[in-house]
Amino acid sequence: MASASTTFRLCDQRPPSLRDAFAEALTVPPLLATMLRSMIEAWPDEVYAQPAVATRFLGKRTTYVCEPGLIRSLLVDQADALERETFMLRALAPALGRGILTADGAFWRGQRRTAAPMFRPDRIRGFVPAIAAAAEAGRARWQATAAQVAPAADILPELMRTAFEIIVATMISGDSEMQVAPFGRAIDDYLSQTQWKIALAHLGAPAWTPHPGARRGAAAARYLRDETARTIARRRARGEPGRDLLGLLLEARDPETGLGLSEEALVDNLLTFVAAGHETTALALAWTLRLIADRPEVEARMLAEIAGLPAPLGQKPDGVERLTYTRQVLMEAMRLYPPAPLIVRRTVREVRLGETRIPAGESVHVPVYALHRNRGLWDRPDAFDPDRFAPAIHAARDRYAYLPFGAGPRVCIGMGLAITECLVVLATLLPALRFVPERAEMPEAQFRVTLRPRGGVPMRVVARHAG
Ligand code: HEM
Repeated sequence: MASASTTFRLCDQRPPSLRDAFAEALTVPPLLATMLRSMIEAWPDEVYAQPAVATRFLGKRTTYVCEPGLIRSLLVDQADALERETFMLRALAPALGRGILTADGAFWRGQRRTAAPMFRPDRIRGFVPAIAAAAEAGRARWQATAAQVAPAADILPELMRTAFEIIVATMISGDSEMQVAPFGRAIDDYLSQTQWKIALAHLGAPAWTPHPGARRGAAAARYLRDETARTIARRRARGEPGRDLLGLLLEARDPETGLGLSEEALVDNLLTFVAAGHETTALALAWTLRLIADRPEVEARMLAEIAGLPAPLGQKPDGVERLTYTRQVLMEAMRLYPPAPLIVRRTVREVRLGETRIPAGESVHVPVYALHRNRGLWDRPDAFDPDRFAPAIHAARDRYAYLPFGAGPRVCIGMGLAITECLVVLATLLPALRFVPERAEMPEAQFRVTLRPRGGVPMRVVARHAG
């Protein structure tokens, strides 16, 4: 972690002196280099222990809010004083435009209301057979390679494929022409250059400033948007909107004007759901499979629980509710490796955090990765221990100490689907396959908007009956 000499506790509201400004200027080049590697490493150490920490970078202050009570006050009680952070928009809007993830105000509210019915619990239960079918197809692909004593390979692309197929099956009624491999590559190409956009935004450089990967990123954004527009056109050609997410978006009407979503808004939203809905879930699965590979006793408990299911989940979706220990493991994996490791906002009016006032126009961040490893909130914060999420223990914990899906009105809309999906995929893969890591150490976690494993998660996949 880089320790910025300009870091001060939140209670310190003094304007910076000339000396502070000089000291700050010296930290800019190393901090930028660290930010390009992974923004998490640029956070000051205090975010792992203090309730709130303010940093200054080129005269702009960012307040990291790290204490559950203050986080609630910010994200829930004062949610209407916040908007999307400019640097995140600069990173994401070239691909996602102003869809539900990137829009604010009334425009966001309308889109959120439109999509909400897709994520009701009864709807999610209804998706389980489709999720199980995609997971079984993934399992069969792995079984085919496992039979040939395949060498270790990164498991993330295969998990991305499964998660992508699940999103397409559930949200776009299985549009068979959406191609996972080029879509996934385009998302990789796009995300791998976002740290440059973020760093340049911090420097105040204009959006057109050239940077490594920019051309590839722009081509990737074009591909993703064109492919999404073609999916919408295919649906229109069918002549009926359908009862899925795309159908809801096509039928949405502005309550005031009665107008439908523009073509651009349709692409923004559909692409947002496909991208936000599969990348994060695949990462949660990859980190989980890697963590349990080091803990045979955890894996054995999961296997026993899965073996106790009365029927395969595809046939009896209610079985998902019985996977309480497997759910604990997933939650603990998302504590150590939250797929969305940082929540960023900008204040549109003054915000009060305890005694402190933060004026309009400043950055306020919730460093979820650090919150989940906060020394005051978690005993042995770096240890993997699914028992922390035993129902009684978890219920006694402050709800705002654990935020893999965020909080407040902008909490992840896909949370229920994501958890169900992860449980069904784990329950499908684990009884048939063993995942053996190639290297003893955990992959390094790297901030690329999501939390990605640097160098992937290389593992050997072995059929269980073959030992
Ligand atoms: C393990 C998987 C997932 C994780 C960890 C995750 C995490 C998050 C987080 C932390 C946010 C809030 C961001 C913020 O407050 O700035 C969010 C928002 C969002 N997520 Fe997820 N997500 C996951 C899966 C999904 C799935 C499966 C979908 C859809 C199918 C989805 C769609 C969205 C959307 C549309 C938003 C924006 C909501 C809004 O601003 O109103 N996510 N997600």
